Amino acid sequence: TYVIRSGLLLNTIYLFPVWLLSPDAELPPHLENLKHTQKTINSTAEKHPAHEGDELDSILVLIWMWPFTHPLTQMSCSLFNITGCHLIGDRSQYAQAHGVMFHHREIHNNWPDLLELSRPPLQKWVWMNMESPANSQKLPGLDNLFNLTANYRRDSDIWVPYGWIVEASNDNKAFKIPKKDKLVCWFIYGGHFDRYQSKQDYFKIISNCKFYLSFENSIYKDYITEKLYNPLTSGTVPVVLGPPRENYEEFVPGNSFIHVVDFRSPEQLADHLKLLDQNQEMYEQYFTWRTHFTAKVSYFGVDHACGICDYISKHKSY
Ligand SMILES: *[C@@H]1O[C@H](CO)[C@@H](O)[C@H](O)[C@H]1NC(C)=O
Ligand SMILES: *[C@@H]1O[C@H](CO)[C@@H](O)[C@H](O)[C@H]1NC(C)=O
Ligand SMILES: *[C@@H]1O[C@H](CO)[C@@H](O)[C@H](O)[C@H]1NC(C)=O
Repeated sequence: TYVIRSGLLLNTIYLFPVWLLSPDAELPPHLENLKHTQKTINSTAEKHPAHEGDELDSILVLIWMWPFTHPLTQMSCSLFNITGCHLIGDRSQYAQAHGVMFHHREIHNNWPDLLELSRPPLQKWVWMNMESPANSQKLPGLDNLFNLTANYRRDSDIWVPYGWIVEASNDNKAFKIPKKDKLVCWFIYGGHFDRYQSKQDYFKIISNCKFYLSFENSIYKDYITEKLYNPLTSGTVPVVLGPPRENYEEFVPGNSFIHVVDFRSPEQLADHLKLLDQNQEMYEQYFTWRTHFTAKVSYFGVDHACGICDYISKHKSY
């Protein structure tokens, strides 16, 4: 509604109603190499009973269900520089697992079963959720059920943001603003559109837009999603609607995005975008941070599972 009210801005917006392809097909381009690290848990080399041999070397984390029924069977954590982790999806190894990751959305229908499970005394249950409270159904009986949380909020035990800023490598330092042929773009997520978009196309389209509307679906502290990090990685300026500017600045440089609250009205915002469209030097100011930094997007589910494993390996006492 923020945008719709402004006829001025609407004239210049490219709308992309999309339904992204299945998670299997949607690795961002820079994560493509992760695919090659997938191994099935059936290969003998990967089958490690957790309490056998050197415990330091073998933390077993069971993914109760792959988030959004993600089809991956096993991923190596070595890409995150985390060693000695085994992520498994096979519940027959439940009793051996040091940790079990439960994705909130996937326990909607079967949480009463969890209350019945017997729990190995040292095993840690981890509640994993990346949706804001507005989109997380409260389930009775979950209080005190879990030992740890893995969440986008900085006060969770295992903090997994949707993305983050890292120091630029020499390759990144050669960053050039991509060619632009659209002014403002807005991707609308949902199942009620029959247009499909592959991740490759998605990142390509974003990079061709001068501005990207990074409007969160609800406003909560630290709830800053891939809607911010996708344009930042793609060389596009995000126009954000979400928590206050100060909260964003705790995650990314203040001059890397435009916040809607900096403007008194949608018209003023539209005028500013049009001004930047006409003034390349002003527009380029939004990329000065790229001289030293770049942005990364987290890998849904896998970053969490590996973070959990890392945490458990470093917190053996309780
Ligand atoms: C492991 O092997 C069994 C039997 O060979 C098979 O039924 C199962 O689907 C395999 N699991 C994975 C994750 O590959
Ligand atoms: C990986 O971990 C090793 C050992 O802790 C450390 O020396 C190295 O700098 C890390 N590499 C990266 C890319 O983080
Ligand atoms: C995990 O939480 C459960 C339920 O509160 C508790 O019984 C169990 O002792 C805890 N386990 C660990 C390893 O902290």
